[in-house]
Parts: sequence; C-alpha cells; structure tokens
Amino acid sequence: MDDHSQRGALYEGREQTLVKHFILRKYLERFAYKVGSKWTSITYVDCFSGPWNLKSEKLEDSSFAIALVELRKARATLKKRGRDLQIRCFFIERNRKAFARLEEFAHSTQDALVVPRNSTLEDSIPSILEFVHQGGSDSFPFIFIDPTGWTGFAMDTIRPLLQLRPGEVLINFMTGHIERFVTLEETRESFQALFGSGDFLDELRGKQAQDRQDAAIGFYMRSLQKAGDFKYVCCAMVLHPERARTHFHLIYATRNPAGVEVFKEIERLAMAAMEKARAEAQQRKRERASGQDELFTSEVLHDSTHYESLRERYLSLCREFTRTWLKKQKRARYDDAWARVLRAPMVWEQDLRKWLKTWEAEGLLEIEGRPPGTRVLNREQGIQLVWKGQG
Ligand SMILES: C[S@@+](CC[C@H](N)C(=O)[O-])C[C@H]1O[C@@H](n2cnc3c(N)ncnc32)[C@H](O)[C@@H]1O
Repeated sequence: MDDHSQRGALYEGREQTLVKHFILRKYLERFAYKVGSKWTSITYVDCFSGPWNLKSEKLEDSSFAIALVELRKARATLKKRGRDLQIRCFFIERNRKAFARLEEFAHSTQDALVVPRNSTLEDSIPSILEFVHQGGSDSFPFIFIDPTGWTGFAMDTIRPLLQLRPGEVLINFMTGHIERFVTLEETRESFQALFGSGDFLDELRGKQAQDRQDAAIGFYMRSLQKAGDFKYVCCAMVLHPERARTHFHLIYATRNPAGVEVFKEIERLAMAAMEKARAEAQQRKRERASGQDELFTSEVLHDSTHYESLRERYLSLCREFTRTWLKKQKRARYDDAWARVLRAPMVWEQDLRKWLKTWEAEGLLEIEGRPPGTRVLNREQGIQLVWKGQG
C-alpha cells in the first residue's frame, strides 16, 4: 500500500475528516515555514483536541499529531537555514478517557513543549492566554477550534482568542448539524451565543436550502471578522462523502493577505481530494448494495453534479457581485476585488482574473497600473480596475 492509500484507509467511512485533516496539514506546512522564517516560535492551540474516532494506533489521524508533524517539518527545514523555531502546543480535551491518550502523547513528546489540559475550552481561556503570553512577543499563535456541535465556543467566550495579535484562527463550523436546529425555539439561546447576536435569525428569515446555509455562514463569518478585527475571513466547504449535502465549513481568519493566498490554494487542492474521496466512498456504497465490484474506477463513475453545481453557484454569484460592485465603485483596487471574491468557497483568484480579462476584452473595464511585461494580474502591484461599461 502506498502512502496515499494507507492514509485513505484511515479515513474510510469518515472522508469529511480526511478533507479537514488535508486542509489542516497542508495549511500548517506552509504556515509554519512562513511564520518560522520571521518569528522565533509558534504557539499552536488545539481547543477541541480529541483523540476522536481514530483508526491509527499511532494517532496519525488526530489533528494534534498531524499538527506536530508539520511543525517539526518546518523546524527541520528552517534549521538548515540557520533558524531555530520553537514549537509550543496547548491541547485541550474535555473527555477524561480521550484526555488520558492525549496526555500520554504529550508526555512522550520530548522535542517540543506540549501542555495538555483536561478541561473545557470555556474554562480554559485564561490558561490559554497565559500560555500564549508566556511565549513572548516573538511567538505567533494559531488557534484551532474543532467542536462536535455548535456549543462550547460561544463568540463571547472565544473573543479574547480571536483578538490575539498576531494570531490566526481555523474554526470548524458544523453546518450540516447547525442547519437542522438553527431556527428551533429550544436552541435559540445557544445559537445566539454561537453567532454572537440574535440578528442571525433576521438574516435567515424567508430563505431556504442553499440560500439559507449561505446566509448562516455569511453571518458567522462577519461576526467572527468583527469580534477579532480580522482583515480577511474565508472558508472551505466540506461535503458529505455519500450525500449531496454540506457536512461542515472550515472557516479561516487572518490579518495577512499571504495567509489567504495559501489557504485558498490549499482549498483548491482539498476540493480535488474531496471529490476523489467522495467518488471512492460512493463506489464502496454501491458495491456493498449490489454485492458486486464495479468494472470502472470510482473516478470514471463519479457523479460530481453536486460539487459542480455548487462551484457554478458561487462563480456566478461572485461574478455578478464583482460586476455590480465595480460598476458602483467606478474605480477600485485589484487587491480589494481579490479580498471580496476570495471570501466565497470554491472561487479562486484565477476565476477573478478570467472575469476581469473578459470584461476588459468587452470594453467594460480598463486595467491600470499593470507592471510592464506582466500579463497575470497580482496583488500588491498597485493595479486599479476602472469600470467603463454602463451595463
Ligand atoms: C471533533 S472532536 C476533535 C477532533 C480532532 N480535532 C481531530 O481532528 O482529530 C471534538 C473533541 O472535543 C471534545 N470536546 C467536546 N466539547 C468540548 C469542550 N467544551 N471543551 C473541550 N473539549 C471538548 C470532545 O470530547 C472531542 O474529543
């Protein structure tokens, strides 16, 4: 078995976790190297650590072990460049049994500072802040919030973590779960705490299906942005392995555009990995039902209609939104258009470039300030978009 299929086997029946760990792994790989090139230490906080539903004896499919592997890799690479990255981790787990394994893992780790805590996130905020501050002013905190539902990380509770500067956050927003309960009377208070205000209900009123889901995610992202005074918030949408519905969104918040660039690039790779894993999961399901092995590979047989229709939805919404915005602004920075577009899932910078090029060719848009000799539009080049069209 090669590395890829070995990893795949660990996630059979929970391919959504494969996608979550793919994004965490790949993002941390790039993040740790980038941050470690500038800062002397990384303070990594996993607020809902687990272990949770693992298959690997060696805990390879746990978020905390994955994080440590990536942080170590960056440290080794940076060492070759003469830099000495310090790794500091704070792992919180409420469940006593799970915590026992987490603690064992922490104690067996000799080459990094790993502090485990058997408690809830709610009760750990002062200890997290203390741990972060002990790292000094040259440590960069990364906060990972990966709950099982919608409670335990109320906006007011996590606000001090969101406000850490520097700092970045990755939150698993359990969309599928939340959608089902969000408008019930009995859950009103807990959702109000999650969203940081009761106004989310106004936003959802009268909306159905995907529109309602987008409204909930949009509200949460804006609330998070405000609470942490983040410049950028974007998300990756993770689909159910076997059904045409959303499992969860991974929401990423940062103050650095380079972070968005990395996250979006990884989201694109993750979407391809997700569709591959969903194709395999769906083939396994069909084969179980029929009792027969299929003749063709899962990728050939995969019906990707749901993914494709979502991508088409966000492309079309963002294209229209950008066009209307440019028309209203008349003149705008490319960097601002980029930041607005990349908030949406499944839309990438190459999509924005394509629309701009089309509008330019149609005489609707002039692009000013392109550095001589460059064809591809990029951020931080002072590029201005000037709308000329009427329609
Ligand atoms: C989804 S699992 C975490 C999975 C892990 N991050 C991973 O990807 O491998 C959530 C974990 O949080 C724990 N938990 C639930 N509520 C909590 C709370 N309020 N504070 C801390 N831990 C909590 C659960 O026991 C469970 O182990």
